[in-house]
Amino acid sequence: MRNHWMNRRDFMRAGAGVAAAGAAKFSFLTPAFLAAAPRPAAPSDRIRFASIGTGVRGCDIMRAALSCPNVEIVAVCDLYDGRLIAGQETAGKQLPTTKHFDAILERKDVDAVIVATPDHWHRPLVEEACAAGKDVYCEKPMSHTVEAGFAMVEAMQKHNRIVQVGSQARSSIVYAKAHEIYTSGALGQVTAIEASLDRNDASGAWVYPIPPDASPETIDWERFLGNAPKRPFDLKRFFRWRCYRDYGEGLPGDLFVHLLTGMFTVTGINQPPARAASMGGLFRWTEDRDAADLVWTLFEYPDFRVSLRCNLNNESPGVTRVFGTKGTLEIKNDVLTFTPQDTRPQPESYSILGWPKKLRDEYLQQWRAEHPLPEPGKFSVDVESQVFKAPDDYDYTVDHFQNFFDSVRTRKPSVEDAVFGNHTAIACHMANYSLDHHAMATWDAGSKSIKG
Ligand SMILES: NC(=O)c1ccc[n+]([C@@H]2O[C@H](COP(=O)([O-])OP(=O)(O)OC[C@H]3O[C@@H](n4cnc5c(N)ncnc54)[C@H](O)[C@@H]3O)[C@@H](O)[C@H]2O)c1
Repeated sequence: MRNHWMNRRDFMRAGAGVAAAGAAKFSFLTPAFLAAAPRPAAPSDRIRFASIGTGVRGCDIMRAALSCPNVEIVAVCDLYDGRLIAGQETAGKQLPTTKHFDAILERKDVDAVIVATPDHWHRPLVEEACAAGKDVYCEKPMSHTVEAGFAMVEAMQKHNRIVQVGSQARSSIVYAKAHEIYTSGALGQVTAIEASLDRNDASGAWVYPIPPDASPETIDWERFLGNAPKRPFDLKRFFRWRCYRDYGEGLPGDLFVHLLTGMFTVTGINQPPARAASMGGLFRWTEDRDAADLVWTLFEYPDFRVSLRCNLNNESPGVTRVFGTKGTLEIKNDVLTFTPQDTRPQPESYSILGWPKKLRDEYLQQWRAEHPLPEPGKFSVDVESQVFKAPDDYDYTVDHFQNFFDSVRTRKPSVEDAVFGNHTAIACHMANYSLDHHAMATWDAGSKSIKG
């Protein structure tokens, strides 16, 4: 790397020592899952769980949960016949199925439940499961409203249950390594963080195909509505619920929450932002929805500011960048790159262009005298990038479930409990508040509410 303050001779002398600069040192990360479950679990440690909501995510995470040792699925619950079948197929066995979650919560042989329903159902299910003495893995975003989030924290604490929120970056070895680098001080002072996640197709924009057998006979529509406004039967609302704010929180609840969980994990913070300011809009997927297809929000946290963007009108890889005075951290999928910046002292080169040549030369001469170059061959500077990657078959959702089941067994608080889930969700609600009200959203800790 050549610096503008070096003349050609200096550069040649230093060259040998910085040959590696700009190159990257590559390491594979070791999966935590292996470390988390080194011992064969005793039969008494066996955890029996049921899945409530066996749609796309419910089936996906059932597979992740079942790949953990000494756990067993004993029932599935969903509101659509096709999903009950999909749940059974995923479990790989004939399980009791029901459209009534109460039938699961009243079973004495169920230790834990997975809640993978649309977001407006998270609060009632977590509250009722905790009251029934079950531990809960609840999909992200934890809450549909600010009020719901605090009620869920209270349910966890009052009934002394393990509640883990399903934003799996929290258990990722990639984010754990990023946290290690962050806390080592190698980044210097961090004042800015940015993250984005963009998609450019119908599925990415939640316009999913509707199964041909879906009908009022195969779906319990009234129960789906739950505490949401009453409406006539509507297949789009049932299968594409993310498009409607009655059931989801748009891009903030669907995708910001992952970026926030990652950012919390890297930096170690766990609190609502002081303020949030959003811009966005519905530009392209206008056919039938009230959720924006572009949301861009700036958040204020005490030591740094965070910019998040999700855009359903262009594809680009999910990325988080942490900017410090000594370097930059970048997480792109499962690859973490730390790039130190060259912070060695340098003579001023820009503003002295306006000095008379004589003064300029004297200044540079004096600067060089005060900062002599090291001997040839002894010059080395650590400006090499470091790249860390998870193994190709690494699945952080499996690690997240392993952490959940460890908490269920040991009663150690979850790595992503309801307090953490509430704090990331509040940031999502603030992003939406700002978008909806065309105003800055301010967090009022005293009243536990968002003010304009
Ligand atoms: N962590 C992640 O990466 C991730 C990824 C996708 C989805 N999610 C979350 O998972 C949840 C589910 O999303 P999805 O994509 O699977 O949605 P989905 O529509 O595919 O499935 C949701 C299922 O919940 C069922 N359901 C609704 N209310 C119910 C109730 N009261 N009792 C029982 N079943 C009920 C529906 O019948 C439906 O089959 C959402 O909260 C979503 O944000 C998380």
